[in-house]
Amino acid sequence: MHSTTGTDITKAIDLLKKGELVGIPTETVYGLAANIEIHEAVAKIFEVKNRPSFDPLIVHLLEREQLDPICHSIPKEFYLLYKAFCPGPITFILPKKEKLSDLITAGHNTVGIRFPNHPLCRELLRESNLALAAPSANPFGYVSPTSAAHVDQQLGKKIPYILDGGECKVGLESTIIDLSKKEISILRLGGLSMEEIEKVLGFKLKSSKISSSNPQAPGMLSSHYSPSKKVFFDQDIEENIEVDLNSIGAIRFKNYHPKIEKTNQWILSEKGDLNEAARALFKVLRETDTTDLEIIYAEKFPDTGLGRAINDRLKRAAY
Ligand code: TXA
Ligand code: MG
Repeated sequence: MHSTTGTDITKAIDLLKKGELVGIPTETVYGLAANIEIHEAVAKIFEVKNRPSFDPLIVHLLEREQLDPICHSIPKEFYLLYKAFCPGPITFILPKKEKLSDLITAGHNTVGIRFPNHPLCRELLRESNLALAAPSANPFGYVSPTSAAHVDQQLGKKIPYILDGGECKVGLESTIIDLSKKEISILRLGGLSMEEIEKVLGFKLKSSKISSSNPQAPGMLSSHYSPSKKVFFDQDIEENIEVDLNSIGAIRFKNYHPKIEKTNQWILSEKGDLNEAARALFKVLRETDTTDLEIIYAEKFPDTGLGRAINDRLKRAAY
């Protein structure tokens, strides 16, 4: 099998209803979608991604009316955030109802719910009337895809169809907020900044530090987002520069490092816009992987807005 890529919603719906997997565009990153009603389809996600079964999946919905059969005890903060940001790059962890498959939630009593903001994806959800379980469409542990071509390169041989919605506008995975506990916390920094969320909630949030030994959100393992190059994050270049200048590249925010070959450098946003930088990050990490460079120096981005999520991903890429 090799997947085809296109914009045929009807074909995508047919496949999903038959229990096949489809690559889908969202505003954050591309997802690998399955119909939540079909157990075998959901199981296929773990197989195709080589993902451990202890890592739960996010369920994608068109609108909040679909929550009723899936979640219970929805707190008022959900409604505030839904009104402010949905559809958009935020995932809510909520108490799940019995009926929802344990395979999706990896046995947790909570489920991740997201309302993606991409016109083609929303059309798919609307026309199909399905709820879709979808992780990012990359092999487990690798950088998430931000274009249909990225999905095709790595999973093309394993899935029948990729719905092409162009390049992802946000470029980082959704921000995950845990609304299932007394104290609300951020489980994953992502495409919606903490500042924006805090402004709507009216209080400061805790960003829970999740270690690789804590299975609470396994996708947050320290070594996630690993490209195959040696990435150094926020470290002094000087020592290695002596060694082998031509094998060194750099990922930079807005200007070139004076000591490294310009052709070996990637500037994420010349005008210093963190949203633009976020959009480019994963594509650039993939590009560095196709070069002969041995070491990539990633500079630390400003720790505000999407800069925090960028730093988080670079830190994990560097692990
Ligand atoms: O932007 C996104 O969120 C993308 C697009 C495709 O929607 N999806 C995505 O899915 O990034 P994935 O599976 O690559 O990452 C989801 C993360 C994982 O780290 C998983 O452990 C965590 O969400 N997660 C899912 N359900 C959870 C739950 N019930 N409790 C805690 N963490 C959960
Ligand atoms: Mg992922």
